Amino acid sequence: MPTNHKSLLVLGLMSGTSADGIDIALTKISGAPPNLNAKLLDHTSVDFPPQVRKEILRVAEQTPVPAGDLSQLNFRLGAIYGEAALTACKKFRVSPKKIAILGNHGQTIFHQGPPVQYLGRPTASTLQIGDGSVIAARTGITTVCDFRPADIALGGQGAPLVPYADYLLYRHSKIGRVSLNLGGIANITVLPAACKPSQVFAFDTGPANILVDALVQHFTRGRQRFDKDAKLAQSGRPAPALVDELMHDPYLAHKPPKSTGREYYGTAYVKNLLAAGRHHHVRPADLVRAVTVFTALSVIDALNRFVLPKHKIDQLIVSGGGAKNPLIMAQLEAALVPHAGAQHAAPHVHKMPTTSSLKGFSSAPVQIIPSDDLGVPTAAKEAFAFALMAYETFHRRPSNLPSATGASGPAILGKISYGPPR
Ligand SMILES: Nc1ncnc2c1ncn2[C@@H]1O[C@H](COP(=O)(O)OP(=O)(O)O)[C@@H](O)[C@H]1O
Ligand SMILES: [Mg+2]
Repeated sequence: MPTNHKSLLVLGLMSGTSADGIDIALTKISGAPPNLNAKLLDHTSVDFPPQVRKEILRVAEQTPVPAGDLSQLNFRLGAIYGEAALTACKKFRVSPKKIAILGNHGQTIFHQGPPVQYLGRPTASTLQIGDGSVIAARTGITTVCDFRPADIALGGQGAPLVPYADYLLYRHSKIGRVSLNLGGIANITVLPAACKPSQVFAFDTGPANILVDALVQHFTRGRQRFDKDAKLAQSGRPAPALVDELMHDPYLAHKPPKSTGREYYGTAYVKNLLAAGRHHHVRPADLVRAVTVFTALSVIDALNRFVLPKHKIDQLIVSGGGAKNPLIMAQLEAALVPHAGAQHAAPHVHKMPTTSSLKGFSSAPVQIIPSDDLGVPTAAKEAFAFALMAYETFHRRPSNLPSATGASGPAILGKISYGPPR
């Protein structure tokens, strides 16, 4: 494949497990790896209408839904993504005709990464909906969707995919980095200094905003969708015994590679949280605080168990909506930069729980950096990543990292839908 020096405008669309809306990145990309140049020009978000969000959650909860509902939602979401892309173009003041490629992650409705027995055969599968033909027809832009199946088809877990972008954006010859995205679920990409693609590893550490969002919606009867600026959590009292109990979540101890989602951190899990709150006689705000603290500590626990004993890490780059949660950030800081944590975050910071992986662990401080400081706004990081992957697919190049997904080799990700001829 000849190196392509002409730069293309590429839109990336991301909507994660939070099902809050669509993050859209406008990017300008040229070249080919290892000399790929990608620049984020602008970004915006479009919220899902509450009714659409409710339906996404209903379908994704795996309570029985008629196949017809799934089909209808697939097309309806295609139209919503298409309209969101056009709205974004207007905001970016760029004509859709100038956009060469649109990459859309789609809405995950089901994800079974490791194979399980199904009809007598081990089977893995994943489903992201929002039909590409509908997007291409609405926007006229060549659209790449459905990135994950090609990796699963090669024996991978179809996730995580963002490590490809992390590698291109953040790999450093001298600095060991971990890229952390706090969406609904928290996931990390480990990039040791001077790493090769085969040395990158990545996994979901556990919950990010998914549990706190669910609790806040429960306690406010849907009037509030999330704990803005951790206001509710910060008004709660510490409940260390409850946090300790939450840290016994068996997912945290599972060895990577591992991925998780609403299938695990869904309604049943939240019911157990509410029961634990009653058992510990805590008020709603106290429970939200404990779960926020647990969320941050589950990330620290993963670093302490699976990353820091083996790799020297200097920086933790944080993106996703959770980067805007001051209590999560203060907890991360207190654990990774003990001195700074003690100074700045003392009033809010929870004493470290006594789970075995955290006990007595000490390592050099890890600097925490919002992805904004490296040129990628926290809200745009994953959308940027899917623009990059769409660009690669368009040029028939792979963009999975087999070391991160477990696939037997590189895969060209996604399916391409073309707009009607002009
Ligand atoms: N100002 C804020 N304060 C606290 N939490 C926030 C704030 N802004 C965003 N969030 C959290 O980020 C979540 C959305 O994060 P996002 O990265 O879009 O996740 P996903 O990829 O799962 O959609 C929200 O549901 C909310 O919990
Ligand atoms: Mg989102």
